[in-house]
Amino acid sequence: MNTVDYVADISSLRHAVAQWRAAGETVALLPTMGAIHDGHLNLARVGKQLCNRLVTSIFVNPTQFAPEEDFSNYPRTFESDLAKLHEARCDLVWAPTAEVMYPDGFATTVQPAGAASGLETDFRPQFFAGVATVCSKLFLQALPDIALFGEKDYQQLCVIRQIVRDLDLPLEIVGCETVREEDGLAMSSRNAYLSADERRTATRLYDVLRDVAGEFAAGAAPDAACAAGQQTLLDAGFASVDYLAIRDAERLEQVAAGTPEKCRVLAAAWLGQTRLIDNIACN
Ligand code: PAJ
Repeated sequence: MNTVDYVADISSLRHAVAQWRAAGETVALLPTMGAIHDGHLNLARVGKQLCNRLVTSIFVNPTQFAPEEDFSNYPRTFESDLAKLHEARCDLVWAPTAEVMYPDGFATTVQPAGAASGLETDFRPQFFAGVATVCSKLFLQALPDIALFGEKDYQQLCVIRQIVRDLDLPLEIVGCETVREEDGLAMSSRNAYLSADERRTATRLYDVLRDVAGEFAAGAAPDAACAAGQQTLLDAGFASVDYLAIRDAERLEQVAAGTPEKCRVLAAAWLGQTRLIDNIACN
């Protein structure tokens, strides 16, 4: 089986990137937690279109998981990830250990506010500090020209754009559309947790997002559209809904009405033990 090379120490990563730079080549970074699927591979394809070289990081970042979350069960499929990334023409995988990422004595955190306020943070308070810190480190380790992020995790994309802006990090963030299964379910490593029944119900999340976006675009008040959507999800068999909200598409601030083309509807809901998140544009 053909695979892509990987490195696990920072000096090897920097050496590879420096050699490409010396040859005048540009570099894209795709940060992932592995369990590579077509959503990731689409980002990889975009990265190779925009830059000469693509580095994909695979690191299941412990600091973005709460103690009761699925860190230890998170799917780890390193060998098949390497094969898929090879197919996608990725040039190098950056696979640091937890000790390399967070050596003894590590004590610095990037704590984003702004776009990180509310939504995910109301339910996973530690999440964006974990993501912002590890992504800042990944950017500084790899020093890419661009980094690729999916709209699937829309609040994460907004937070990353914000930290790059706020900290003057010298790279461009490229956001890519959500890749979906044929029935509309957004691809996610966590979909593997769904039972056959849950998998059938899961598609309703996308339907509800489209209904809510449509009602808002037709003039409904955001609260009313979201309350109706939340009830539809519960009726369909979702155990609970963490949030279903319409926000402005850039800073994720609350909106009262109007301008659907600048808004996004975002949701997180539980199907059995699995938490699904998704979002779409409102226009
Ligand atoms: P992970 O869930 O592995 O996702 C890596 C990247 O792939 C993220 O930018 C995510 O938005 C994108 N992605 C996942 N599913 C997608 C889909 N169906 N369509 C389009 N893009 C998709 O997100 C993380 O890892 C981590 O939080 C990370 C940024 C790596 C920091 O640890």
